[in-house]
Amino acid sequence: MVTASAPGKVILFGEHAVVYGEPAIAAAIDKRIFVSIEGRSDDEIIITSSHELRDGYPYVKAAAELTFEYLGNRQGLDISIDAEFPPASGLGSSAAVSVATILATATLLGREVGLKDLARLGHQVEKRVQGSASITDSSVTTFGGVLFIKPRLEITEKIKTANIPLVVGYTGKGGSTKELVNNVRMLRDSYPEVVDPIIHTIGGITLAAKKTLKEEEDIGGLMNINHGLLEALGVGTARLSQYVYSARKAGALGAKITGAGGGGCMIAYVPQNQDEVVSVIEGLGGLAMKVSIESEGARIERG
Ligand code: PMV
Repeated sequence: MVTASAPGKVILFGEHAVVYGEPAIAAAIDKRIFVSIEGRSDDEIIITSSHELRDGYPYVKAAAELTFEYLGNRQGLDISIDAEFPPASGLGSSAAVSVATILATATLLGREVGLKDLARLGHQVEKRVQGSASITDSSVTTFGGVLFIKPRLEITEKIKTANIPLVVGYTGKGGSTKELVNNVRMLRDSYPEVVDPIIHTIGGITLAAKKTLKEEEDIGGLMNINHGLLEALGVGTARLSQYVYSARKAGALGAKITGAGGGGCMIAYVPQNQDEVVSVIEGLGGLAMKVSIESEGARIERG
């Protein structure tokens, strides 16, 4: 049996603006998805999971198929999945499970896949299943660490920084990324002269944050401005804002929506008193997790 794992992610800065070519910063978190694979004597692919994943297992199936195509070799597989964070919550479960499946399948078949190929294949899986996908999630889950995303060039750059202690607050229900991206597009179509500067300013926040992160300074203020502009784009919800403001009151130096919004998750930057922020979010009915930045991306655990 081979077990591979890959981490989830948060977007620290630049979601939505990245769709229009602005840079973004995303980070791998120390919560992983584990994929264990054993060969079968027939040619079926049987998948079981500790969590119910989005719409069955389209990512896992597509990832196994794509790996077979890539290697020019196929075999029946028993695949079991275990997750340390909730799927379909905006924390990158789809990319993590895809990349871990590719890595485990290739390893079981006795082949090595370099990280660049792994990220590329992971991105292809997301595109096959979703129709389109940015490189953010597949890159972060493959390489780990904090990544500066340049969408126009489809490249990422690792930012060396100190750990960023975060608390993630999950509302219990993810928003639809496709719908929210579409809503922002409609808002932009209605008021281009108003919305374009907001998108560009979010890009400016991301650039400022890159510098702040490298100098290991406080990113809280920039997170708060970014949150305000995401609200301006219409992707906030009352509940997310409730978590954001309560987290700040409980000691977070900054807090914002992370990912597509409309539900899903927020993040709070909390160098001290993480427990207080966790209990405040839980008191409001959310699922709160202390997370750190994970420097390692996809890896083989056993096998
Ligand atoms: O909620 P998530 O993790 O799917 O993030 C979506 C991020 C967007 O910028 C809104 C869309 C994208 O593809 O980058």
